[in-house]
Amino acid sequence: MDKRRDFLQKLSFGLITPALFGTSIWKEPKFEKDLGEMSWEEIRKLFPLEKNRIYLNNGTFGPSPKSVLDTIQDSFQHTNSTGEYGNPSSGRERIAAFLGIKKSELCLTHNTTEGINIMAWGLPLKKGDEVIITSHEHAGSAIPWLNRAKLDGIVLKVFKPSDTRNKNFELIKSLVTSRTKAIAIPHITCTTGTVFPIREIADFARERGIFTAIDGAHGAGTLKLNISELGCDFYAGCFHKWMLGPNGSGFLYVKEDLLDTLQVYQVGAYSEKGWELSESKANLKGYVETAHRYDFGTQSTPLHLGIVAAVDFHEKIGREKIELRVRELNDYLFNGLKELKGIEILTPEERESRISVVAFRIPGLDYQEIAKKLSKKKIRIRGVHEAGLNAIRVSTHIYNSKSEIDTLLGEIKTMLS
Ligand SMILES: Cc1ncc(COP(=O)(O)O)c(C=O)c1O
Repeated sequence: MDKRRDFLQKLSFGLITPALFGTSIWKEPKFEKDLGEMSWEEIRKLFPLEKNRIYLNNGTFGPSPKSVLDTIQDSFQHTNSTGEYGNPSSGRERIAAFLGIKKSELCLTHNTTEGINIMAWGLPLKKGDEVIITSHEHAGSAIPWLNRAKLDGIVLKVFKPSDTRNKNFELIKSLVTSRTKAIAIPHITCTTGTVFPIREIADFARERGIFTAIDGAHGAGTLKLNISELGCDFYAGCFHKWMLGPNGSGFLYVKEDLLDTLQVYQVGAYSEKGWELSESKANLKGYVETAHRYDFGTQSTPLHLGIVAAVDFHEKIGREKIELRVRELNDYLFNGLKELKGIEILTPEERESRISVVAFRIPGLDYQEIAKKLSKKKIRIRGVHEAGLNAIRVSTHIYNSKSEIDTLLGEIKTMLS
């Protein structure tokens, strides 16, 4: 039988997996002009984000450019008009390369919280074991670790983040005891956008047999992230913030040699090496040799291709260029806020300790009141209730402009007068 007929026949009998078929529908997005050559104003036009409002909340949700949305829509159309729901394995290679990890170390999740739950439950911890964590955790990190503490009696040793890399490193070291088994901190906090020196912390932890389980919700898409270079053991992140990818898409990195250490608890198709279940035999042969063991069952091809389109978008603009732009806007905002009298900036001034977020408060004014006032002016920020900070968080990405930041600063000035 010739190869084409063989392929089509197998396809019609369902012998060729949807995974293989799903890969064939990836279409590289086309742009009118080389993305690397575009000005930031031109790049802004690639986002359907409404023009009559100022969106400064990328730290919660990053709106996608049109190329990502078109990829998702086309894929949904394809999936639903052919019934080939896919499972695009080739996308994983490109996503892993972008994150600086091996394909075998990548688990695709639905959000950061899912990855944190896998880390919190999978680590071999017993009653009395200690885990170092911050008081500035997002609910998506605090709750999984609190749940493990509640159900298994592990002890959480909590510290309040400080304002320099060195101080934060020292704070962590000061909490280590002979019972410390893991350091479970954010790469970048959700409250003040404080960036922790993960590489130094990971080196320190590794020498002492302590696991590093990082909440990387704000890492990918801001810094030119290379997770292997960071040296941590596990890193959970998402594509729906700074990656500007599909809502409801995330990842978990598991260092290859720790796959059998981080116990998998939720399993299904694609997690296993084989299984038997009959009247005479019940046997799960083992788990696949990759981090695919942590994700299973039907996945969304449109969302996975949307992630690849987001990777494509970042790569075509240039990852260094994106990091520089994010830093430039962050400096502009930070310096503008510093000039205002009567506000308290909570984000560290040290440049290595911040990247994409500035948090501040106005003594005497509740954050909800400030948020309401700004909302009336069509400016979207996020309030920070975590750790009782009563602050405002402003997060800026490449599509924002200095003139939008000026408008925000003008409104804050009015509130102060
Ligand atoms: C630091 C941090 N961790 C975890 C999360 C939860 O992320 P997700 O919604 O992707 O689960 C967030 C969300 O804002 C966050 O800022």
